[in-house]
Amino acid sequence: MSALVSLRGLRVAFDGQFALRGIDLDVQPGEAVGLVGESGCGKSVTWLAALGLLPAKARVSGSVTLQGQELLGAAPATLDKVRGGRIAMIFQDPASSLNPVIRIGRQVEEALRLHRGLQGAAARAEAKRLFDQVGIPDAARRLDAWPHELSGGQNQRVMIAIALAGRPELLVADEPTTALDVTIQAQILALLQDLRRETGMALVLISHDLGVVAESCDRVCVMYAGRIVEQAPVERLFAAPTHPYTLGLLGALPPLDGPRRRLAAIPGSVPEPCAMPKGCAFAPRCAERSPACEIAVPAAIDLATGHQAACIRATAMGLLKETVAA
Ligand SMILES: Nc1ncnc2c1ncn2[C@@H]1O[C@H](COP(=O)(O)OP(=O)(O)OP(=O)(O)O)[C@@H](O)[C@H]1O
Ligand SMILES: [Mg+2]
Repeated sequence: MSALVSLRGLRVAFDGQFALRGIDLDVQPGEAVGLVGESGCGKSVTWLAALGLLPAKARVSGSVTLQGQELLGAAPATLDKVRGGRIAMIFQDPASSLNPVIRIGRQVEEALRLHRGLQGAAARAEAKRLFDQVGIPDAARRLDAWPHELSGGQNQRVMIAIALAGRPELLVADEPTTALDVTIQAQILALLQDLRRETGMALVLISHDLGVVAESCDRVCVMYAGRIVEQAPVERLFAAPTHPYTLGLLGALPPLDGPRRRLAAIPGSVPEPCAMPKGCAFAPRCAERSPACEIAVPAAIDLATGHQAACIRATAMGLLKETVAA
Protein backbone atom coordinates (compact mmCIF):
# COMPACT_ATOMS: atom_id res chain seq x y z
CA MET A 1 0.00 0.00 0.00
CA SER A 2 1.41 3.39 -0.86
CA ALA A 3 1.44 6.02 1.87
CA LEU A 4 -1.09 8.83 1.95
CA VAL A 5 1.43 11.24 3.49
CA SER A 6 5.20 10.72 3.69
CA LEU A 7 7.64 12.85 5.65
CA ARG A 8 11.29 12.33 4.75
CA GLY A 9 14.25 13.96 6.46
CA LEU A 10 12.03 16.77 7.69
CA ARG A 11 14.13 19.39 9.46
CA VAL A 12 13.15 22.73 10.94
CA ALA A 13 15.48 25.39 12.29
CA PHE A 14 14.54 28.56 14.15
CA ASP A 15 17.35 31.14 14.28
CA GLY A 16 19.88 28.54 13.19
CA GLN A 17 18.90 26.02 15.90
CA PHE A 18 17.28 22.76 14.82
CA ALA A 19 13.96 22.00 16.52
CA LEU A 20 13.30 19.08 14.11
CA ARG A 21 16.28 16.96 13.22
CA GLY A 22 15.16 14.61 10.45
CA ILE A 23 11.67 13.13 10.75
CA ASP A 24 10.78 10.10 8.61
CA LEU A 25 7.14 9.14 8.93
CA ASP A 26 4.49 7.54 6.71
CA VAL A 27 0.76 7.71 7.28
CA GLN A 28 -1.19 5.06 5.38
CA PRO A 29 -4.72 5.75 4.12
CA GLY A 30 -7.22 5.27 6.95
CA GLU A 31 -4.74 4.44 9.70
CA ALA A 32 -4.51 6.12 13.10
CA VAL A 33 -1.01 7.13 14.12
CA GLY A 34 -0.20 8.48 17.56
CA LEU A 35 2.62 10.96 18.04
CA VAL A 36 3.76 11.14 21.67
CA GLY A 37 6.51 12.80 23.64
CA GLU A 38 7.02 15.39 26.34
CA SER A 39 6.42 19.08 25.90
CA GLY A 40 8.86 20.73 23.47
CA CYS A 41 9.93 17.58 21.61
CA GLY A 42 8.57 18.83 18.27
CA LYS A 43 5.17 17.20 17.85
CA SER A 44 3.35 20.36 16.79
CA VAL A 45 6.24 21.74 14.75
CA THR A 46 6.31 18.52 12.70
CA TRP A 47 2.79 19.01 11.37
CA LEU A 48 2.90 22.80 11.22
CA ALA A 49 6.00 22.42 9.03
CA ALA A 50 4.38 19.72 6.90
CA LEU A 51 1.41 21.98 6.20
CA GLY A 52 3.44 25.16 5.61
CA LEU A 53 2.05 26.88 8.71
CA LEU A 54 5.27 27.93 10.45
CA PRO A 55 6.35 31.59 10.54
CA ALA A 56 8.59 32.72 7.68
CA LYS A 57 11.71 32.73 9.88
CA ALA A 58 11.49 28.91 10.20
CA ARG A 59 13.91 27.12 7.85
CA VAL A 60 12.21 23.94 6.68
CA SER A 61 13.94 21.25 4.61
CA GLY A 62 13.38 17.65 3.60
CA SER A 63 10.27 16.35 1.89
CA VAL A 64 6.55 16.11 2.61
CA THR A 65 4.46 14.33 0.00
CA LEU A 66 0.72 13.77 -0.26
CA GLN A 67 0.26 10.74 -2.53
CA GLY A 68 3.47 11.66 -4.30
CA GLN A 69 2.79 15.40 -4.57
CA GLU A 70 5.51 17.49 -2.89
CA LEU A 71 4.09 19.99 -0.42
CA LEU A 72 7.28 21.65 0.84
CA GLY A 73 7.72 24.81 -1.18
CA ALA A 74 4.47 24.20 -3.09
CA ALA A 75 2.57 27.23 -4.44
CA PRO A 76 0.29 28.95 -1.89
CA ALA A 77 -2.77 28.07 -4.00
CA THR A 78 -1.85 24.37 -3.86
CA LEU A 79 -1.33 24.49 -0.10
CA ASP A 80 -4.62 26.33 0.42
CA LYS A 81 -6.41 23.48 -1.35
CA VAL A 82 -4.63 20.80 0.67
CA ARG A 83 -5.03 22.44 4.08
CA GLY A 84 -8.55 22.05 5.38
CA GLY A 85 -9.29 20.10 2.19
CA ARG A 86 -7.34 16.86 1.92
CA ILE A 87 -5.54 17.37 5.24
CA ALA A 88 -7.27 19.07 8.16
CA MET A 89 -5.70 20.05 11.45
CA ILE A 90 -7.24 20.70 14.84
CA PHE A 91 -4.98 22.94 16.86
CA GLN A 92 -3.86 22.62 20.43
CA ASP A 93 -6.07 25.39 21.82
CA PRO A 94 -9.66 25.28 20.53
CA ALA A 95 -10.64 28.52 22.25
CA SER A 96 -8.10 30.54 20.28
CA SER A 97 -8.83 28.73 17.01
CA LEU A 98 -12.46 29.83 16.77
CA ASN A 99 -13.18 33.44 15.90
CA PRO A 100 -14.95 34.85 18.98
CA VAL A 101 -16.94 37.44 17.03
CA ILE A 102 -18.43 35.14 14.39
CA ARG A 103 -21.34 32.79 15.11
CA ILE A 104 -20.17 29.17 15.07
CA GLY A 105 -22.50 28.10 12.25
CA ARG A 106 -21.01 30.81 10.01
CA GLN A 107 -17.52 29.52 10.72
CA VAL A 108 -18.50 26.02 9.58
CA GLU A 109 -20.33 27.45 6.54
CA GLU A 110 -17.22 29.43 5.59
CA ALA A 111 -15.17 26.22 5.59
CA LEU A 112 -17.82 24.56 3.43
CA ARG A 113 -17.72 27.45 0.97
CA LEU A 114 -13.93 27.40 0.77
CA HIS A 115 -13.47 23.68 0.37
CA ARG A 116 -16.65 22.46 -1.26
CA GLY A 117 -18.13 25.56 -2.86
CA LEU A 118 -21.35 25.27 -0.84
CA GLN A 119 -23.34 28.44 -0.19
CA GLY A 120 -26.65 29.65 1.26
CA ALA A 121 -29.19 27.04 2.26
CA ALA A 122 -27.01 24.15 1.07
CA ALA A 123 -24.13 25.29 3.30
CA ARG A 124 -26.51 25.79 6.23
CA ALA A 125 -28.01 22.31 5.81
CA GLU A 126 -24.59 20.71 5.57
CA ALA A 127 -23.37 22.66 8.63
CA LYS A 128 -26.34 21.31 10.58
CA ARG A 129 -25.57 17.78 9.39
CA LEU A 130 -21.94 18.18 10.53
CA PHE A 131 -23.08 19.48 13.93
CA ASP A 132 -25.31 16.40 14.25
CA GLN A 133 -22.43 14.18 13.17
CA VAL A 134 -20.08 15.57 15.84
CA GLY A 135 -22.77 15.28 18.50
CA ILE A 136 -23.72 18.91 19.15
CA PRO A 137 -27.21 18.70 20.63
CA ASP A 138 -29.99 20.88 19.21
CA ALA A 139 -27.81 21.53 16.16
CA ALA A 140 -30.18 23.80 14.20
CA ARG A 141 -30.41 26.29 17.05
CA ARG A 142 -26.76 26.01 18.03
CA LEU A 143 -25.63 27.18 14.57
CA ASP A 144 -26.46 30.71 15.70
CA ALA A 145 -24.52 30.54 18.97
CA TRP A 146 -21.33 32.47 19.68
CA PRO A 147 -18.19 30.53 20.71
CA HIS A 148 -18.40 31.90 24.28
CA GLU A 149 -21.86 30.39 24.69
CA LEU A 150 -20.48 26.84 24.34
CA SER A 151 -18.44 24.74 26.74
CA GLY A 152 -14.84 23.80 25.95
CA GLY A 153 -15.94 20.31 24.89
CA GLN A 154 -18.64 21.71 22.58
CA ASN A 155 -16.19 24.17 21.05
CA GLN A 156 -13.86 21.25 20.38
CA ARG A 157 -16.76 19.52 18.58
CA VAL A 158 -17.23 22.68 16.49
CA MET A 159 -13.52 22.57 15.62
CA ILE A 160 -13.93 18.96 14.53
CA ALA A 161 -16.98 19.91 12.43
CA ILE A 162 -14.90 22.61 10.69
CA ALA A 163 -12.11 20.08 10.14
CA LEU A 164 -14.59 17.62 8.59
CA ALA A 165 -16.10 20.28 6.31
CA GLY A 166 -13.48 19.67 3.61
CA ARG A 167 -13.92 15.85 3.81
CA PRO A 168 -10.24 15.36 4.71
CA GLU A 169 -8.33 12.17 3.97
CA LEU A 170 -6.16 12.94 6.99
CA LEU A 171 -7.07 14.69 10.22
CA VAL A 172 -4.18 15.88 12.37
CA ALA A 173 -5.51 16.40 15.90
CA ASP A 174 -2.99 18.24 18.08
CA GLU A 175 -3.75 17.52 21.77
CA PRO A 176 -7.48 17.64 21.05
CA THR A 177 -8.41 16.80 24.62
CA THR A 178 -5.78 18.32 26.90
CA ALA A 179 -7.90 21.31 27.88
CA LEU A 180 -10.91 19.11 28.70
CA ASP A 181 -11.91 17.17 31.79
CA VAL A 182 -11.57 13.39 31.76
CA THR A 183 -15.19 12.53 30.89
CA ILE A 184 -15.37 14.98 27.99
CA GLN A 185 -11.89 13.86 26.90
CA ALA A 186 -13.15 10.28 26.57
CA GLN A 187 -16.20 11.47 24.60
CA ILE A 188 -14.09 13.45 22.12
CA LEU A 189 -11.72 10.49 21.59
CA ALA A 190 -14.71 8.18 21.04
CA LEU A 191 -16.11 10.71 18.57
CA LEU A 192 -12.84 10.73 16.61
CA GLN A 193 -12.97 6.92 16.42
CA ASP A 194 -16.58 6.94 15.20
CA LEU A 195 -15.77 9.56 12.57
CA ARG A 196 -12.82 7.54 11.36
CA ARG A 197 -15.03 4.48 10.94
CA GLU A 198 -17.72 6.51 9.16
CA THR A 199 -15.45 8.45 6.81
CA GLY A 200 -12.39 6.20 6.40
CA MET A 201 -10.07 9.16 7.06
CA ALA A 202 -6.62 8.68 8.53
CA LEU A 203 -5.83 10.25 11.90
CA VAL A 204 -2.65 11.61 13.43
CA LEU A 205 -3.28 12.04 17.13
CA ILE A 206 -0.71 14.21 18.90
CA SER A 207 -0.57 13.72 22.65
CA HIS A 208 1.78 13.71 25.60
CA ASP A 209 -0.33 10.87 26.99
CA LEU A 210 0.65 7.37 25.90
CA GLY A 211 -2.56 6.00 27.43
CA VAL A 212 -4.74 8.14 25.16
CA VAL A 213 -2.76 7.08 22.11
CA ALA A 214 -2.85 3.39 23.07
CA GLU A 215 -6.62 3.41 23.12
CA SER A 216 -7.13 5.28 19.88
CA CYS A 217 -4.29 4.40 17.49
CA ASP A 218 -2.96 1.53 15.37
CA ARG A 219 0.62 2.70 15.54
CA VAL A 220 2.69 4.92 17.83
CA CYS A 221 5.65 7.17 17.09
CA VAL A 222 7.61 8.32 20.12
CA MET A 223 9.35 11.66 19.63
CA TYR A 224 12.25 13.07 21.57
CA ALA A 225 14.17 16.29 20.92
CA GLY A 226 13.11 16.63 17.29
CA ARG A 227 13.45 13.01 16.21
CA ILE A 228 11.31 9.88 16.21
CA VAL A 229 13.18 7.61 18.62
CA GLU A 230 10.85 4.62 18.44
CA GLN A 231 7.85 3.54 16.40
CA ALA A 232 5.78 0.38 16.44
CA PRO A 233 2.24 -0.97 16.21
CA VAL A 234 0.51 -0.19 19.54
CA GLU A 235 0.46 -3.77 20.92
CA ARG A 236 4.08 -4.26 19.97
CA LEU A 237 5.20 -1.01 21.61
CA PHE A 238 3.57 -2.04 24.88
CA ALA A 239 4.83 -5.63 24.63
CA ALA A 240 8.40 -4.86 23.64
CA PRO A 241 9.31 -1.23 24.29
CA THR A 242 13.00 -0.77 23.51
CA HIS A 243 14.11 2.84 23.72
CA PRO A 244 14.81 3.91 27.32
CA TYR A 245 12.74 7.04 26.65
CA THR A 246 9.71 4.91 25.72
CA LEU A 247 10.31 2.80 28.82
CA GLY A 248 10.38 6.02 30.84
CA LEU A 249 7.08 7.19 29.34
CA LEU A 250 5.53 3.78 30.01
CA GLY A 251 6.72 3.98 33.58
CA ALA A 252 4.96 7.32 33.76
CA LEU A 253 1.68 5.74 32.60
CA PRO A 254 -0.90 5.20 35.34
CA PRO A 255 -2.39 1.68 35.31
CA LEU A 256 -5.62 1.45 33.29
CA ASP A 257 -7.41 -0.24 36.16
CA GLY A 258 -6.62 0.02 39.82
CA PRO A 259 -6.01 3.17 41.80
CA ARG A 260 -4.59 6.22 40.08
CA ARG A 261 -1.06 6.92 41.22
CA ARG A 262 1.20 9.88 40.75
CA LEU A 263 3.07 9.89 37.45
CA ALA A 264 6.67 8.79 37.82
CA ALA A 265 8.10 11.54 35.65
CA ILE A 266 11.46 11.01 33.94
CA PRO A 267 14.03 13.14 35.77
CA GLY A 268 15.31 16.12 33.78
CA SER A 269 13.69 17.78 30.75
CA VAL A 270 13.78 17.85 26.95
CA PRO A 271 16.85 19.81 25.77
CA GLU A 272 16.27 23.13 24.04
CA PRO A 273 17.31 23.23 20.36
CA CYS A 274 20.18 25.56 21.31
CA ALA A 275 21.57 23.08 23.85
CA MET A 276 21.30 19.79 21.98
CA PRO A 277 23.70 17.21 23.43
CA LYS A 278 26.19 15.54 21.10
CA GLY A 279 25.27 11.97 20.23
CA CYS A 280 21.99 10.65 21.58
CA ALA A 281 19.87 13.58 22.82
CA PHE A 282 18.33 11.42 25.54
CA ALA A 283 21.68 10.23 26.95
CA PRO A 284 21.94 12.85 29.73
CA ARG A 285 18.64 11.58 31.21
CA CYS A 286 19.12 7.91 30.39
CA ALA A 287 19.73 5.36 33.14
CA GLU A 288 21.23 2.97 30.54
CA ARG A 289 23.71 5.39 28.97
CA SER A 290 27.25 4.36 28.15
CA PRO A 291 30.16 6.48 26.84
CA ALA A 292 29.33 5.32 23.29
CA CYS A 293 25.97 7.14 23.47
CA GLU A 294 27.74 10.49 23.38
CA ILE A 295 29.63 9.80 20.14
CA ALA A 296 26.97 9.80 17.43
CA VAL A 297 23.21 10.19 17.00
CA PRO A 298 21.94 6.58 16.83
CA ALA A 299 20.18 5.60 13.59
CA ALA A 300 16.75 3.96 13.63
CA ILE A 301 17.16 0.16 13.56
CA ASP A 302 14.51 -2.36 12.41
CA LEU A 303 13.62 -4.70 15.26
CA ALA A 304 10.49 -6.31 13.82
CA THR A 305 7.92 -5.50 11.14
CA GLY A 306 7.03 -1.85 11.65
CA HIS A 307 9.09 -1.63 14.83
CA GLN A 308 12.12 0.65 14.84
CA ALA A 309 14.15 2.20 17.62
CA ALA A 310 17.04 4.65 17.55
CA CYS A 311 19.24 3.56 20.46
CA ILE A 312 22.58 1.80 20.52
CA ARG A 313 20.97 -0.95 22.61
CA ALA A 314 18.61 -1.50 19.66
CA THR A 315 21.61 -1.49 17.32
CA ALA A 316 23.11 -4.28 19.40
CA MET A 317 19.82 -6.24 19.30
CA GLY A 318 19.60 -5.77 15.52
CA LEU A 319 23.13 -7.09 15.06
CA LEU A 320 22.34 -10.03 17.32
CA LYS A 321 19.27 -10.85 15.21
CA GLU A 322 21.36 -10.75 12.02
CA THR A 323 23.99 -13.01 13.55
CA VAL A 324 21.37 -15.54 14.65
CA ALA A 325 19.80 -15.48 11.17
CA ALA A 326 23.16 -15.97 9.42
N1 LIG B 1 7.78 29.83 16.32
C1 LIG B 1 8.81 29.32 16.99
N2 LIG B 1 9.98 29.99 17.14
C2 LIG B 1 11.04 29.48 17.80
N3 LIG B 1 11.04 28.24 18.34
C3 LIG B 1 9.92 27.51 18.24
C4 LIG B 1 8.74 28.00 17.55
N4 LIG B 1 7.79 27.04 17.60
C5 LIG B 1 8.33 26.01 18.28
N5 LIG B 1 9.61 26.27 18.66
C6 LIG B 1 10.51 25.37 19.40
O1 LIG B 1 10.48 24.09 18.77
C7 LIG B 1 10.54 23.06 19.72
C8 LIG B 1 9.39 22.09 19.51
O2 LIG B 1 8.17 22.73 19.82
P1 LIG B 1 6.75 22.07 19.64
O3 LIG B 1 5.73 23.14 19.80
O4 LIG B 1 6.69 21.28 18.38
O5 LIG B 1 6.67 21.06 20.87
P2 LIG B 1 5.51 20.02 21.23
O6 LIG B 1 6.09 18.67 21.20
O7 LIG B 1 4.32 20.27 20.38
O8 LIG B 1 5.22 20.42 22.76
P3 LIG B 1 3.82 20.55 23.56
O9 LIG B 1 3.51 19.17 24.05
O10 LIG B 1 4.14 21.48 24.68
O11 LIG B 1 2.79 21.08 22.64
C9 LIG B 1 10.55 23.74 21.10
O12 LIG B 1 11.88 23.80 21.56
C10 LIG B 1 10.00 25.12 20.81
O13 LIG B 1 10.51 26.05 21.71
MG1 LIG C 1 2.46 21.01 20.72
